[in-house]
Amino acid sequence: MPALISGRLSLIPGMRLPHPQDRVFAAPPNPLMAKPLNLIVACAENRVMGRGRELPFHIPEDKAWFHQKTANTVVVLGRICFEIWPRVLLDGRQPIVITSQPELVRADALRRFGADAAQQLRTAASVSEALALAQSLPGEIMICGGERIFKETLPLAQRLYLTLVHTEVPGDVFMPDWRHLPWREAARRESRDASYRYTFLTLEH
Ligand SMILES: NC(=O)c1ccc[n+]([C@@H]2O[C@H](COP(=O)([O-])OP(=O)(O)OC[C@H]3O[C@@H](n4cnc5c(N)ncnc54)[C@H](OP(=O)(O)O)[C@@H]3O)[C@@H](O)[C@H]2O)c1
Repeated sequence: MPALISGRLSLIPGMRLPHPQDRVFAAPPNPLMAKPLNLIVACAENRVMGRGRELPFHIPEDKAWFHQKTANTVVVLGRICFEIWPRVLLDGRQPIVITSQPELVRADALRRFGADAAQQLRTAASVSEALALAQSLPGEIMICGGERIFKETLPLAQRLYLTLVHTEVPGDVFMPDWRHLPWREAARRESRDASYRYTFLTLEH
């Protein structure tokens, strides 16, 4: 018998469905997700992580960190992130690109990386399809954005590699709010360059 909770209908008695105005909430561990999900992002204090199709800041140390953390992993990302990341099919990365235009993405991969590398490319039509595929492949799963993909996967993530850039920058692509979730800080390293001060954080559930 469906239960009516918080004015919304749930097929599982006792389960509260998220309200559209809810903030992103932490989901309980999903036993079907055998491998943990890692998110990796750099954002400013105002959560800006992109401007058009570009990063809103240029931080060489963060780029090196990002490349090191994602090498030899299964990277899950949106079509635009795939198009703008020059090394996406290098260094042993196995990309799964979420797109409704797999042929376009495949042609782009072939043109940029050649036939051998392009064979490593996989596409998926949705986040759930991409995560199921990622679970079936060997290697750590790194979710690399963009905005919608982070929004859908943040509640499922066990780890967030966050480079928090201590400034506010203009932009139009945002990291969804992570601050209210019950993270444990597993690692922290402060750094800076000539333009920015930033903190490398590893947050875990
Ligand atoms: N600072 C950082 O760490 C960081 C990380 C990631 C991104 N960024 C920035 O963010 C921007 C790119 O991200 P973005 O959010 O604009 O684009 P994106 O997610 O890379 O790509 C958007 C496209 O991906 C597909 N897609 C995304 N989410 C989907 C979903 N849930 N279901 C089905 N398809 C989905 C759709 O492709 P089709 O149109 O082909 O169907 C959509 O048009 C750039 O500015 C980039 O620099 C920054």
